[in-house]
This record gives sequence, structure tokens and C-alpha cells, in this order.
Amino acid sequence: MARIMQHLGPEDYQSKRHIRKLLRLAGASKRDVFFDLGCGRGQLCVVAVVEFGVKKAVGIELHKGRAEKAASEVQRLGLSDRIEIWNEDYTESDLHEATVLYCGHSEEVEDLERYENELRSGSRFVSLFLPFVGVVPSAVDYPFYVMDVPFRNTGDVSAWISKVLSRKASVGELYEELDTDREYRYDKRVFRRLMKQRFGV
Ligand SMILES: C[S@@+](CC[C@H](N)C(=O)[O-])C[C@H]1O[C@@H](n2cnc3c(N)ncnc32)[C@H](O)[C@@H]1O
Repeated sequence: MARIMQHLGPEDYQSKRHIRKLLRLAGASKRDVFFDLGCGRGQLCVVAVVEFGVKKAVGIELHKGRAEKAASEVQRLGLSDRIEIWNEDYTESDLHEATVLYCGHSEEVEDLERYENELRSGSRFVSLFLPFVGVVPSAVDYPFYVMDVPFRNTGDVSAWISKVLSRKASVGELYEELDTDREYRYDKRVFRRLMKQRFGV
């Protein structure tokens, strides 16, 4: 539990422009229930409801003070009937209602299996900076990757890298790009383990 609490990061991370970009990329609409896994002050949920008209949004936030700020902002905006803020660890949350999900945290070893088992068919998961290792995204607009559920997995590392970087590149070149990315701080140990597990490289 609370695996990311030591790196809380800022309360609001994405700019409004990026929030719109990721929701547009996922095709969020009035038919959807949007979940933000690690919602900070809940700004993505507000944009999803107000600008994209999703029927419901759920922001999950482990930090009590942030969850409280998110909930009072939702109340101030008069959106309490459409937005729920859950003060809990999203790795233990019930996600069955979600049709569009966003998570800005990098992939952990157990994530893929969990989401494959828990998410409903037809839902879309938006990740930041990288798709899950071995999952072919259905849409890419860097830094966002949309992965449709059920996930489309590939064991072909070159095909996957060409989706990730939008160009043909070797595994070494992929590491070089990730290592020199000024914004993306990834856990190389976890990433190497996932590459080994999914591609054997
Ligand atoms: C960088 S903020 C991003 C906020 C918002 N999603 C955005 O993009 O503007 C990430 C949030 O995730 C929360 N968080 C980290 N691990 C979590 C967990 N396991 N469960 C719920 N929230 C978590 C942190 O407290 C932090 O507020």
C-alpha cells in the first residue's frame, strides 16, 4: 500500500491544455465514467465533467489534505452530484465502474494483470510518458498513451518501441531516450524487469 506516497509530487500536475488533450485522446463523452488515479485537488475530474460532459467522475487521492481540498472544490462548484472524491489508495480501489481512467504514475510490476482483470471491456486507460510495457496503444499524443481494454499485447519489442517513440529504434536507443528525458523520472529497475518479463530483453 501507499507505494508512491514518498514521492507525492505537486497537488496539480497537468495543465488545463494537457487535461483536455488526454480526455480528447481517450474520446471521453457523456457515456463515460472517468477515474483519476491519484487526483490531487481533483482538477481532471472537474474538466471531465464540465467540459467533456462525462456522466460521473471519481478522483482517488491517498493524501487526506488533498482529498479534502478536492472535495470542497467540488462542493464549491456545485458538482457533488457528478464528482466523487475517494480518500484511499487507488491500488486497492474498486474500479469496476470506470470507462476512462487516467494514471500519471509509472507502471509497477503488478499493474498490468490487475487492470486486465478488473477493467471492463471497452474502457480506455490513459498513461503518461509510456504505455504499459508490451501493450500497443490505440492512440498516442505524447506524453499520453491510450490503451484499450482488453489490452492488445505484443511480444515484438521493435513494434512496441516504434509505437512508443513514433519511430523505429533499438532497445538501447529507447533507454537512451528515457534516460535523457528531462521530465520523466522512471524507475529503471522496475522497467528493466518488465522488459525482461514481457520481451525477454
Ligand atoms: C502529481 S499529482 C497529480 C494530480 C492530478 N492527477 C494532475 O495530473 O494534475 C499525483 C497525486 O497522486 C497521489 N497518489 C500517489 N500515490 C497514490 C495512491 N497509491 N493512491 C491514491 N493517490 C495517490 C499523490 O498524493 C498526488 O496528489
